[in-house]
Amino acid sequence: MNKILAINGSYRDGGITDQAVNALVKALESAGAEVEVILLRKYPIEFCRNCRECTLQPSESPGKCVQHDGMEALIKKIAQADGYILAAPTNFGSVTAIFKRFMERLIVYAYWPWDKNSPEFRKTNAHKKKAILVSSCAAPGMLGRFMYGTHKQLKMTAQTIGANTVGTLFTGLIAKDPQLKLANNIHRKIQRLSVKLLG
Ligand SMILES: Cc1cc2nc3c(=O)[nH]c(=O)nc-3n(C[C@H](O)[C@H](O)[C@H](O)COP(=O)(O)O)c2cc1C
Repeated sequence: MNKILAINGSYRDGGITDQAVNALVKALESAGAEVEVILLRKYPIEFCRNCRECTLQPSESPGKCVQHDGMEALIKKIAQADGYILAAPTNFGSVTAIFKRFMERLIVYAYWPWDKNSPEFRKTNAHKKKAILVSSCAAPGMLGRFMYGTHKQLKMTAQTIGANTVGTLFTGLIAKDPQLKLANNIHRKIQRLSVKLLG
């Protein structure tokens, strides 16, 4: 059984990100996968404190954070999943703040003693899994994908948790209608992406 974990950083119930993630979930479940969705807007995660306690621990598995919130359970879910959907709208050229807050807490995947300039990834994520990235913006999709930092940030998140990006859904021109529904061509792309994630 393929276990897929979707992490959704949208602020809005029923917005384009929710619709895209839900359509992906439906396609994956129809293909026999088990999918869990974490809505970051409802999930308890504190800000990283930059204390680096977790990065000083020389283990192969993620370091232990000094904070005890939803992140502990989420790190376990990430380890147990076979693949991921990482989703966040583009706000001011970036993933949303709640997605960034989650992203920064992924520093537990790095070993980074104080005498080193930069972190190195722990062995725990050496076995590559697969990830699909989902974002949207007011600008045309193709432009948004290359012009903004969102795609890069989602990709960096995938890398950090040990996944290769196998597909991206970057939807543009979505900010003129508060009730906008995903277009049929997007639904077709979602079908193809679900096959890529499970294949
Ligand atoms: C605070 C804020 C900042 C935004 N910044 C950008 C931006 O820099 N570029 C852009 O193309 N769209 C921008 N948008 C439009 C959002 O990307 C769009 O509303 C979002 O993708 C909708 O996702 P949702 O339906 O999941 O809420 C912004 C929207 C808000 C509310």
